[in-house]
Amino acid sequence: MRVSIILLGTFLYSSMVFSQDQEPNEVLLESMESGAMIYEDFCVNCHMADGKGVENLNPPLASSDFLMNNRGLSIKTIKFGQKGEIVVNGKKYNNTMTPLGLADDEIADVMNFISNAWGNLNNKIITVEEVSKIQQ
Ligand code: HEC
Repeated sequence: MRVSIILLGTFLYSSMVFSQDQEPNEVLLESMESGAMIYEDFCVNCHMADGKGVENLNPPLASSDFLMNNRGLSIKTIKFGQKGEIVVNGKKYNNTMTPLGLADDEIADVMNFISNAWGNLNNKIITVEEVSKIQQ
């Protein structure tokens, strides 16, 4: 149920934003659709359905300056996990995100979803090649 709500919102939003550019539009939407399902399976427990995280524990993804300004580091976080101090939207977190064992294409999909959900906007698609180049 949650996924369909997330998806519906995302689709409506993206079709407005990306409608001028036909081709990347479809590739991106397809990737975001898979990403929404991965989000529901692997991320929603900590970052929540609205992407707002959990106060003092799990940082937000919705309107996250970290996510939107540090594309490489965000991919790295999802690929290899992240622990220790991190500052998101001016607030400090000091917790652990364990690596989730996702394949590079799944990481690209979930990145395309989270960076275009909840009002986030990134029309520069994240590719498998980009994810595979990110090393620890
Ligand atoms: C067990 C809880 C947990 C799960 C599951 C989890 N995260 Fe995280 N995530 C965290 C925590 C905690 C941090 C911050 C770690 C720290 O304090 O150093 C974080 C940080 C992040 C960040 C960078 C900071 C930000 O808020 O922009 C991104 C991006 C992110 N997670 C995405 C994901 C995605 C995508 C998934 C699913 C594929 C996921 N996380 C699954 C707990 C989790």
